[in-house]
Amino acid sequence: MASKLLMCPPTDYAVAYDINPWMTRNVGAPTPDAMRQWDRLVETLHCAGDVEIVRVEARPGVPDMVFTANAALISGNLAIMSSFRHPERRREQGTYRRALAQSGFATTFLQQTYFEGAGDALFDRVRPILYAGYGWRSERTATMQLSETLAVRTIPLLLVDERFYHLDTCLCPLGSGHVLAYMDALSPHAQRLLRRTIEPEYLIEISLEDALAFACNAVEVGDSIVLHSATLRLRERLNAAGYRVFATDLGEFHKAGGSAKCLTLKLEDGPSCAEAAA
Ligand code: ARG
Repeated sequence: MASKLLMCPPTDYAVAYDINPWMTRNVGAPTPDAMRQWDRLVETLHCAGDVEIVRVEARPGVPDMVFTANAALISGNLAIMSSFRHPERRREQGTYRRALAQSGFATTFLQQTYFEGAGDALFDRVRPILYAGYGWRSERTATMQLSETLAVRTIPLLLVDERFYHLDTCLCPLGSGHVLAYMDALSPHAQRLLRRTIEPEYLIEISLEDALAFACNAVEVGDSIVLHSATLRLRERLNAAGYRVFATDLGEFHKAGGSAKCLTLKLEDGPSCAEAAA
C-alpha cells in the first residue's frame, strides 16, 4: 500500500524571519534552488518506494508552509493541529486545517499550549509509544495532553540544543524497530528514558556531523530511507538494518532549519499496535 504524504511546494518559500539558529545565519539569503530540490525530493520518494503525494498549495506570505510536518500530528483519522509558538507560523494553521479536513480528517487542537505537530511528536513504529519533544517549540503540557487524547504511552523528551529545536531533527523511529538519535540534543534525563525504552542494539546513535546534516530528518518509505546526506558509517549502519539509503540535496531548506522529513507529513500514522496484538 502506498504511503500517503502531505507536501507543499516551495512556491512562496524564503528565509524571511528568524525563529531558529539556522535562520539566524540565513535571514534574507536567496534560495534559488528550492523548487528544483523539492521536485527532486518528490522524484526520489517515488523512486524509493510506493508513495502518494497529497499536495497542499502554498499561501502567499507564509514562507515556512513548505514544512508540512508541522501542520499536525495524525493518528488514525484524527489530526491534532499545531498551535505554533511563533506568530509567523500561526498563519499556516487555517490553511492546514482546511486541507486536512478536506482530506477527511477530524481536526482538533490541544488546549492552551504550544504544540508543533509531527515535528515534535513521533510514533515508535513497533513499540506502542509516542516520543514527544518539548522545550524550544512544543511545551511539556502538550505531551501530557497527547497521552490523554491518544491513550498512548508518551515519552517526554526535553530538547537542550537549539540547533535541534524539533524532535524530528534529532530522533527518527524506523519500521525495523531501530531508532536513530543524536543523543546530545536531549537532556540527560531524556537520554536515560530513551535508553530504558530502546534495546541498545536498536538504538543507532548518530554523530554530530550526521546530525548537522539533518540525517535524523529522514523519510522512511518501504525498505528505503530518503535524506539529505549520511556519512559512510551511518549508511553502513542503515544497510545493516535492512535499508537502502537515498540521498538528495536539500541545502536550500537547511537554511530555514528543515530537511527531508519535515517537508512531508505522513497521513497514515498512529500508535503501533504490534505489542498490543502480540
Ligand atoms: N523554519 C521552520 C521553523 O523554524 C522550519 C521547520 C522545520 N520543521 C521541523 N519539523 N523540523 O519552524
